[in-house]
Amino acid sequence: MLEELSLLHTTTLQELTHANSLDELETIRVKTLGKKGTLTQILRGLGQMEPTARSVLGTRANLFKEEFAAALGMRTEQLKQTQLAKRLEREWLDISLPGRPRSVGTLHPVTRCQNEIIAIFTAMGFPPASGPEVESDWHNFEALNIPPDHPAREMHDTFYLPPGPDGNKRVLRTHTSPVQIRVMEGQQPPLRAIAPGRVFRCDSDLTHTPMFHQVEGFMVDEGVHFGHLKGLLESFLMHFFARPLPVRFRPSFFPFTEPSAEVDMGCLFCDGQGCRVCKKTGWLEVLGCGLIHPNVLANVGIDRERYSGFAFGMGVERLAMLKYGFGDLRALFENDVRFLARHG
Ligand code: DAH
Repeated sequence: MLEELSLLHTTTLQELTHANSLDELETIRVKTLGKKGTLTQILRGLGQMEPTARSVLGTRANLFKEEFAAALGMRTEQLKQTQLAKRLEREWLDISLPGRPRSVGTLHPVTRCQNEIIAIFTAMGFPPASGPEVESDWHNFEALNIPPDHPAREMHDTFYLPPGPDGNKRVLRTHTSPVQIRVMEGQQPPLRAIAPGRVFRCDSDLTHTPMFHQVEGFMVDEGVHFGHLKGLLESFLMHFFARPLPVRFRPSFFPFTEPSAEVDMGCLFCDGQGCRVCKKTGWLEVLGCGLIHPNVLANVGIDRERYSGFAFGMGVERLAMLKYGFGDLRALFENDVRFLARHG
């Protein structure tokens, strides 16, 4: 029996040293100390033995049991370490490598310009307002002092829509000016707003698209005069084009303003010397404006004797073309990613 134990001792400890996986270790454990394990059986057999032999064998067997447990524990720990080392080797990550860049989209140049225009005017105290793109004839024309047979309607190649549920005539708005009416209808001065949005005209050629963007702005209060309008727009243009510019106000006509003016700024491409873009005039036309016509104020129930106001409207595509210096309006609508990325 002692010999058997001694042999078992040697082979088992050797097996433990040679085992190469945790699974193998478990097999050895079961084989030795499991319910039917070799050592278990020897230990169990002790009871039937005669006391002297039992004492010798018992001591040896228990020593072996302890030695086995310690060796098993050690080998398990070693194998775990090797496994971890292998895994670390396999899953090694070079965090000093530069990341793979993802290509990120940019905002459309029209959106960018629109956001910049809004930011400049909000900073000057004009909160953003909006109105519907499908607009009533009243808001788009009549309230703005453009009666049905007024020749000014010819300036607007209008998309007419079937009347709405209330029977009123409807159009795709031809400008953002109806937002003035919508803001003024519900409130009394002092009023200020800036209204960006899409507008629609039945027009399509090199310099016109059926849909484009405008930004409208207006202010009504006691004592508002043309000087306020001039100061505001001059300051806006300097901010938007980020440079000092000559600006001039040229008399013009709009039914909803009196007096009306068109605003020109010194040509950015030739510094006023005269070039192709400014058609040799040295000036670029950038927006329309004026003092709100008293009829418009009366149409929305504002006291035209007590209050006065100014209004202005600008085309975002045109400002984008001037700011980024490209000549073809259609480039803004073709969505060629190379073009958009360059100006985005
Ligand atoms: N609504 C005009 C247009 O579409 C632009 C405009 C001109 C707006 C003068 C105004 C203004 O508010 O005062 O051509």
